[in-house]
Amino acid sequence: MIKKGIILAGGLGTRMSPITKAVNKQLLPIYDKPLIFYPLSILMLAKIKDILIIVNKGQINQFRKILTNGKKLGINIQYKEQNAPNGLPEAFIIGEKFIGKEGVALILGDNFFYAQSLTKTLQNARKLNLGAKVFLHPVKNPKLYGIATIKNKKITYLKEKPTITKSNLAVTGLYFFDKHVVNFSKNLKPSKRKELEIIDLLNKYKKKNKLSFEFLGRGGAWLDAGSIDDYYDATSFVSAIE
Ligand code: TTP
Repeated sequence: MIKKGIILAGGLGTRMSPITKAVNKQLLPIYDKPLIFYPLSILMLAKIKDILIIVNKGQINQFRKILTNGKKLGINIQYKEQNAPNGLPEAFIIGEKFIGKEGVALILGDNFFYAQSLTKTLQNARKLNLGAKVFLHPVKNPKLYGIATIKNKKITYLKEKPTITKSNLAVTGLYFFDKHVVNFSKNLKPSKRKELEIIDLLNKYKKKNKLSFEFLGRGGAWLDAGSIDDYYDATSFVSAIE
């Protein structure tokens, strides 16, 4: 059973510059709430109450002002800094003490999920004991995402931003990992773009036949609010729903 979760909310936000030069992307509004409220609510829907938020150097106070220690929401929020965006798996190295000897969920601070049966899907996923679980969602432009190819209900191939691919299934920014994630992350080598890669981490699980997936489900929406267009799509989506 996964009881802990990390929100990775650092990053440079270069695609949204100059808006993100002084303010972190995750603190910008999606309609009437800061972007980070959405990934936080996903962890809460999964009944995860112990949460670590990882932010850029010097930004803890800004996040704490908005989210506090979580007590009012019935959760416990801690904060840590990442010195530079060295890649998603660094979350598990920074979060080693927080994670301890348990499994953990990771959600990216700029990922927006909406699906009708999401609560059920999430609560099923948190039952994970061994291995890793990802959530796949079809996208129009696979070249921009980490993409999974599946066959016979198994992930057969993973590729970050493929130039050619037959699959349109993006690996979304929500992951569940077992207790081995810290050690696996420590053993990763930086890629050509000098980052620890989540795809490399997932491949370690895949090699051991321990990587599973779920679909967000019909009518599900997933937006990674990283580009200005996706950011505004998320805002119109929320205002329409509300
Ligand atoms: P990215 O999309 O890789 O980065 P970014 O959103 O900062 O922007 P850009 O490409 O425009 O410069 O990251 C996705 C999310 O993960 C985002 O919320 C930032 C966060 N992140 C970190 O906090 N630390 C990291 O090391 C990385 C790679 C990302």
